[in-house]
This record gives sequence, structure tokens and C-alpha cells, in this order.
Amino acid sequence: MESGRPEFKSEEVSQVRGVVLQKSTCEYWNKIWDFQAKPDDVLISSYPKAGTTWLQEIVDMIQNDGDIEKTRRAPTDIRIKYLSNEVMKINYLAGLDKANEMPSPRVLKTHLPVQLLPPSFWKENCKIIYVARNIKDNIVSFFHFQRMNKGLPDPGSWEEYFETFLEGKGLWGSWYDHVKGWWEAKDIYPILYLFYEDIKKHPRREIEKVMEFLGKNLDEKVLDKIVYYTSFNVMKNNPMSNYTLSSLMNQSVSPFMRKGVIGDWKNYFTVAQNERCNEDYREKMDDTTLSFSMEY
Ligand code: A3P
Repeated sequence: MESGRPEFKSEEVSQVRGVVLQKSTCEYWNKIWDFQAKPDDVLISSYPKAGTTWLQEIVDMIQNDGDIEKTRRAPTDIRIKYLSNEVMKINYLAGLDKANEMPSPRVLKTHLPVQLLPPSFWKENCKIIYVARNIKDNIVSFFHFQRMNKGLPDPGSWEEYFETFLEGKGLWGSWYDHVKGWWEAKDIYPILYLFYEDIKKHPRREIEKVMEFLGKNLDEKVLDKIVYYTSFNVMKNNPMSNYTLSSLMNQSVSPFMRKGVIGDWKNYFTVAQNERCNEDYREKMDDTTLSFSMEY
């Protein structure tokens, strides 16, 4: 890896209203903004690396009444369409055109900050499930993801990445703006706001919340099955959820299903970085009722 501050290369990223996004997203921005949501769409939203794939698996299993034959019909990114990129590099098709072709009811996914969500989702009052993860583990997970994802810029060194992230200059913009923006929106729109740490500690309870939010009523045995099939080790060994079928990811650099734990930041943060992050967090979360434990 090259040393020096990671200047995002212009051919890889660009900005929409000051938020750094992949160039492929920016190039199709008008089409993304004009995307037509339907009233029965369910949208999964998150800052990247907060547990999106986990939630995708949970939602898909609930929608399919715990039938694993059905949930193993295709890899995650084929089952649930991603709204941010039309076409990524390396001949990888995702996104809008495919979403438009999907039969209803659709489950879609986005990493867009709340202010950039296509307005039709608000107009149609779509159900949205947002998952947030504590900032420290989110930084670590994103760092490794940028190392292994061939469609994303190289993150540079850990130290550089850490600063870029806190300054909100990384991809998908500021973590703070993202988690706070969606938190505020939940008071107005039908948004179920979940936390990675809660799902990890109380998977059954959180899965039940998702089930109720989706208006489903599954019996105890089906719920047990969903808890099992969406657990980290099972998903890690499932080619339909571990992204091993994706040519976009170099899993020898870092596996997509990397560790799946709370508190891995302790293996990366120096004492100084921890203090810096705590201070930054205190300052930037001063204006919200949303809070995360900073210790774990
Ligand atoms: P780590 O890199 O910390 O392991 P996303 O899907 O938003 O890209 O998030 C990926 C992160 O969620 C990764 O975190 C991944 O391991 C974790 N993850 C995915 N499925 C999980 C599960 N079933 N249980 C716990 N963590 C999971």
C-alpha cells in the first residue's frame, strides 16, 4: 500500500451536494434521484459496514417465511437491489434498471444519507429499516472493506483512513450526519431504526421487531430458524450471503464476512486515536438524542 494521505482519485469518486460518492453513482445521479419507489417497497438503509447484508438476510428470510431454499435462490446483491450504483467497474451490474425490473413487493438497499434519498420513497411512505453501528467498529470494518473491494479507492494507511473518516471526507460522507439524519427522519416517516450491537446481543428480539414492522407473524420455530440461518458463522459459510461469488471483492485481502463482532476497534485504535474519537464524538453528537455506547 502506498503511504501518504489518501487523496481520492477523481476517476473513482465525486460529490453530490458535498457528499463523497463513487463516480459511478454521481454519473447516474439524476436517474437515482428520479427513481420511482412503490408503496409496498421495503428499503434497507445504512452507512456502509453497519450490518446491511445481515439485515438483508434477515428481511429476506422473514419475507420468505424462513424458507432457506428460497433465500438461497441467488446471492444477496441479486436478491436485493442496490440503489446507489447503476454500473460499477469490472462489469458488475447492480442498481436501478434491475430494481425497475423486479416484481413487487421489492426489497431495496441504499447507503445514501437521508438528504439524498430519492424523494419518491418519502412520497410513497415506504417502510424503511435503518441499521446503525458504533462509529469505532464501523471505521475498522470500512477500512478493511476498502482494502478488499476492487471498486473502491485504496484506503491508504490505517492512520490516514481514521482521520479521513472522522473528518467526513470518506465515501458516503460523514458517519455522524448519516446516523443522525436517519434518526431524525424516523420521527416523521415509517422507519425502524436498529443497532448492530442490539442485533448481535439479542438477535431474536431484534428479528421479531423486524417481523412486526413488516407486518408478518411467524411462529416460534420459524423465528428460531431465522436466528440460526442469519448468525455470523452460517452466513459466512453461505455462498449466497458471503460475497464469494462476487468478482468485485478480493477476499484473500480481507474476507467480506470478516469478524462480525462488537469491539474489534480495540485491536486497531491507539490510545490517542481512542481519545480523539471520543472527543470528536462528544462534539458532533451534542445536538442529538441518538447515542451509542463508546466503550463496548
Ligand atoms: P466486520 O467487518 O466488522 O466483520 P455491511 O453488510 O453493511 O457491509 O456490513 C458488514 C459487516 O457486518 C462486517 O463486519 C460483517 O462481518 C458484519 N456481518 C455480516 N453479517 C453478520 C452477522 N450475521 N452477524 C454479525 N455480523 C455480521
